[in-house]
Amino acid sequence: MKIPAMPERSHHVVHVGLADRAYDVVVGEQLLTELGPRTADVVRGRRAFVIVDDNLPKALTDGALASLESSGFTIATASVKASESNKTIDTTARLLHAVAQTRQDRDDPIIAIGGGVTGDVAGFVAATYRRGVPIVHCPTTLLAMVDASVGGKTGVNLMTPTGLKKNLVGAFWQPALVLADVASLASLSERHLRAGLAECLKHGLIAASGPGQPAGPGDELFRWTVERLIKLRMGDSELLEELIATNVAVKAAFVVSDEREESRGTGGRALLNLGHTFGHAIETIPHLTPDGRPDNAPLHHGEAVAFGLVAAAYAGEALGRFDGTQAEAVRVAVERMGLESRLMGLPSDEAIVEAMMHDKKVRGGRLRIVVPTGPGTAEVVESPPEDVVRAGIDAMRIRR
Ligand code: GLY
Repeated sequence: MKIPAMPERSHHVVHVGLADRAYDVVVGEQLLTELGPRTADVVRGRRAFVIVDDNLPKALTDGALASLESSGFTIATASVKASESNKTIDTTARLLHAVAQTRQDRDDPIIAIGGGVTGDVAGFVAATYRRGVPIVHCPTTLLAMVDASVGGKTGVNLMTPTGLKKNLVGAFWQPALVLADVASLASLSERHLRAGLAECLKHGLIAASGPGQPAGPGDELFRWTVERLIKLRMGDSELLEELIATNVAVKAAFVVSDEREESRGTGGRALLNLGHTFGHAIETIPHLTPDGRPDNAPLHHGEAVAFGLVAAAYAGEALGRFDGTQAEAVRVAVERMGLESRLMGLPSDEAIVEAMMHDKKVRGGRLRIVVPTGPGTAEVVESPPEDVVRAGIDAMRIRR
């Protein structure tokens, strides 16, 4: 995969070239105020059902709704309480009933304005209402901009007899358009920025993998990101815009090469799950805290992924695929993000492995993890040896 050149400032457009499901991801300032005309360009219907994250400042959503109205859209709105615990079938059902009341037809869009939870649920509603209606994603968190809004994964969590399973129910449903308005990041806490930065570090660790040859040093994006982490955490909008456009381009390349994560080899879209099998196993443990402060429990998704990246790096080392210096560089990067990199109160290895075995990436009862294998490269490893998984878990654990 060719690492995309760092784009220039002001309105970056990344095209996700998926044949008849192709769309643009537009990244720039004040894009929510252009929501109306940009949506009108990509959909036929003029009744919009807007699903809004209840955390958003009213001024942001007011601008977006005014723009839709002035482009001739009739609007109905619903809000979503943006927490993982609300990413449920019940929320989906409530929204489907609300959309049905508006009598939207198949050409009328659903528009999601918010973070990853809002986008995932709204995307699932769009995928299922009338067997699929257009959706426009307006991600307002860094994590949703660089990851959740791009690539068409939609869905909700499900409580099962063995616990809560993340994203167990869902559908692939590509958006008609993604508008990432960098201005919406101004209201984001450093903690939320950091959660998105974890997904950016992940992209840096895999960017040189995949089809084609790596261009230049394979860890260029990883190093670029690590060198700027402090400024990015402070919310430097120009840097954030550059970061988002570059990360969307990296993600888009993986999505285009393997839209439905069907590649059975050691690569493909599954590489985007680096850090996620370890991360998902610890994400739903309620008392874990990212920085030793009990008030900050539980972990946010991006924080769990950051710890998962450390685990994956050391699992790669235990496999003999990733050298120790590089694994240490991943730990240092996570610490630069303001995380501890080792967690207090992790359950036993057995309990974590058990949770990993319930991950939806398990196939045929076989665990699959992604490990970094070199500068900017990674691989899927099927049925990793137990000591490799334990080495990953141990890398997240505080030593006594
Ligand atoms: N977040 C991983 C993917 O979209 O495939």
